[in-house]
Amino acid sequence: MTFDLVIRNAALPDGRTGQDIALKDAKIAEIAPGLATDGPVIDAKGQLVSPPFVDAHFHIDATLSLGTDGLYNESGTLAEGISLWRRISPGLTAEDYRDRALRYCDMAVSKGVQAIRSHVDITNPDMLAAEVIAEIRREVAPYLDLQLVAFPQMGFHSRPDMADSVRKALDMGFEVVGGIPHLEPTAELGRSSITALCEIAAERGAMVDMHCDENDDPNSRMIETLIYETRRLDLQGRVTGSHLTSMHSMDNFYANRLIGMMADSGLHVMANPPANLHLQARFDTYPKRRGLTRVPELRAAGCVVGFAQDSVLDPWYPLGHGDLLDVAWIAAHACHMTDRAGLRGCFDAVTTDPARIMGLGGDGLVPGAPANLVLLDATDPIDAIRTRATRTHVIRRGKLICETAPPAPKLSLDGRPDTPARH
Ligand code: FE2
Repeated sequence: MTFDLVIRNAALPDGRTGQDIALKDAKIAEIAPGLATDGPVIDAKGQLVSPPFVDAHFHIDATLSLGTDGLYNESGTLAEGISLWRRISPGLTAEDYRDRALRYCDMAVSKGVQAIRSHVDITNPDMLAAEVIAEIRREVAPYLDLQLVAFPQMGFHSRPDMADSVRKALDMGFEVVGGIPHLEPTAELGRSSITALCEIAAERGAMVDMHCDENDDPNSRMIETLIYETRRLDLQGRVTGSHLTSMHSMDNFYANRLIGMMADSGLHVMANPPANLHLQARFDTYPKRRGLTRVPELRAAGCVVGFAQDSVLDPWYPLGHGDLLDVAWIAAHACHMTDRAGLRGCFDAVTTDPARIMGLGGDGLVPGAPANLVLLDATDPIDAIRTRATRTHVIRRGKLICETAPPAPKLSLDGRPDTPARH
């Protein structure tokens, strides 16, 4: 049998070792030890081969804009980030959006990311960012699935015709309706924004992903309305609550009831540990809350929970480089997911789980799945998180699209011969 490519001697995320992965016609054809082929081969040398990394919560219109006009978020708060974006974004040009977005796509792909769900701000009625990013989505499609969310960053009620802009974005090919109900002027307007936006999603067959309750206020309960509208409009499995950091500060009795309702409604959850550890609890003295949603409890209840980057070098977050293993590493600590199952769960939360949330299957490496995979300089998912392992080969639709050599530091120590440093 001639395959397009065979990955020889791979360790898989489920613990199997010594596996050959045969790729043909942009799909995984077969996985088994000792497959015969007279076509090209990549020797994984017993190292981990995984599904691609998936970043299901990002802001590609804002990324790499840190320091624009000399402005930085000095307080580290969400509010200052939004305020800076309000000042910066009206002056951004099409070329600027394009250059930053493409540079970020390249950066992410080199880290094994092959799918990004990006919120795109549609506050400005000229829809410039939406037009540029929709065009970029077509350009990067050969190496990256870019899924777009129509996101009224300054609020659905920030202008009276926002519903028209959401529909226009969907006409441009956006797949997801966004929102930010906790930022609306009143709780009533927050709830009405959820209703209006979910009705547009239902009418157009779109998914929903709302920035929801991204604060430290235990009384911020927009999630209740998101659950209600998910059920009323029969949107189960198509709705994601992003951030949900208020759940960190809620009363345990109420949070327990809420988690059950979320699971029953098929609500997905996107947590953004690096960004929210940075942004939340800025008004606390000590103890300082972590400001993350209740990830282990949500997972135990049956919700699909993904971890994402949210921001890289923008008014909200001053660090990051598109590496979802960094996100998993921070999440493992912040969510107390450092037992063996928890660490494996962290790996799933940056690979297969966000793929499920985005509607991309998420079945992992199985015959029939797209031939998208990543070879890592690691023995298993826990080792990959521990070392934030080099993604040595990134394969997309059966073709090698990026190679990176692992760093090979050489120590020169008195009394010892030069030897490669051990991990
Ligand atoms: Fe966000």
